[in-house]
Amino acid sequence: MMRHAQEHGYAVPALNVVDDLSLRAVVAAARRLASPVIVQASVKTARAIGVDLLTRMFETASAAAGVPIALHLDHCPDEGLIREVVEAGWSSVLFDASSLDYDEAVTRTRRVVDYAHAHGVDVESEIENIVGVEDGVGSDSLVHSYSPERLVEAAEKTGADLLAPQLGTQHGQYTRRPRLLPERVHDIRRLTDRPIVLHGGTGLTGDQFRAFIEAGISKINVSTALKRSYMGSALESLREAEAGDVWDPPVLFRAIETSVEQTVGEHIAMFGAGGWAVDSASACSAGGRMQGRRR
Ligand code: 13P
Repeated sequence: MMRHAQEHGYAVPALNVVDDLSLRAVVAAARRLASPVIVQASVKTARAIGVDLLTRMFETASAAAGVPIALHLDHCPDEGLIREVVEAGWSSVLFDASSLDYDEAVTRTRRVVDYAHAHGVDVESEIENIVGVEDGVGSDSLVHSYSPERLVEAAEKTGADLLAPQLGTQHGQYTRRPRLLPERVHDIRRLTDRPIVLHGGTGLTGDQFRAFIEAGISKINVSTALKRSYMGSALESLREAEAGDVWDPPVLFRAIETSVEQTVGEHIAMFGAGGWAVDSASACSAGGRMQGRRR
């Protein structure tokens, strides 16, 4: 999926889901707009639902999508949970080594990559920290930061498939204007063809996404925007239930799914990811190939 996005100048939306409603909304938007997508779960969500149930929910929801959909574990510093999702057949994991010093980050990432690759699973690597706490993981200050040369040296030593460098974005809502660093993507891309991931997608504009994609970003993570869409639509629906004194849970479910699907659709459009006539789609499989043509 990453290679296809690199070749065709778009970014694959990587969307954090929290339950069956948000999962179905992501799949519905992907199907409607003919866009490959990555379904992501935070460690908190994976633990809350449980790896077995989440895997089955994903397999069932994505089966009829008609586009490639991958299942990815977001920001995980816990090698035990990584082993669990690798064994359950997830497509990829982000080993979060951003709290570790360089040498230990390289050693531990190498260990995760060896294990994941032996099972046909890809690894996204984060050794610099992306500012902001997401579902209990991360830090509000920049602790580790390296030159593009050191980042690529680490990628070569670890064999990681995707790189998640610090690009001036933050997880969560922006409280002040970020200083974005698309030129850093250029600098890293000059040294490696490993796909580069943009974290902290919530709150950026279409122009800012385009600048990053033109610089060579091929996966963009969005979480907070979906959570806001989810909770905002739930609140509105509950207020209507209270006002009319009509308490029908499926009405709430529909409101949430519709709202999250629309939010996902807006991001698919901004990332230029939709409109593929897909020849082959394989969900939850590291061997799934994206071989589409623009419709
Ligand atoms: P946002 O919550 O800022 O969209 O960031 C998502 C993310 O990067 C998940 O890894």
